[in-house]
Amino acid sequence: MAKRNIVKLGDDVLRKICRTQLTFDERLHQTLDDMKETMYAAEGVGLAAPQVGMLRRFCVIDIGEGVVELINPVITETSGEQTGNEGCLSIPDRSEIVTRPMNVTVRAQNRYGENIIVKGEGLMARALCHEIDHLDGVLYIDKAQRSK
Ligand code: CO
Repeated sequence: MAKRNIVKLGDDVLRKICRTQLTFDERLHQTLDDMKETMYAAEGVGLAAPQVGMLRRFCVIDIGEGVVELINPVITETSGEQTGNEGCLSIPDRSEIVTRPMNVTVRAQNRYGENIIVKGEGLMARALCHEIDHLDGVLYIDKAQRSK
């Protein structure tokens, strides 16, 4: 595994729409492993492919309950609401208040291309929304209540 550089705010790559991931090969697995290492080294709870410069629809999340890898994730259901602090590894030393759903259901594929369903509540729901937003070039600061 190898740590990768995290793209920072201001880089166009964070504002692009990512493409569907069609291959589930060793190269994808290597990228996912690198992203996990990068996320843990930066002490983040999630990292999306565009944050390592790849315009592909996948991300990794670990809120402290084990890693979840999501390929081509789509939010299929949301309920409730939560308002709280949010940050992003691409926007260092900054956090803002963002309102998100309290519960989120996501349909995705795992690293082998198998269909999976992931349900998240609270922080996990927030992380799912945040990372999936990245795949459409959306950053949490776009949804923050106020800017610093
Ligand atoms: Co982020």
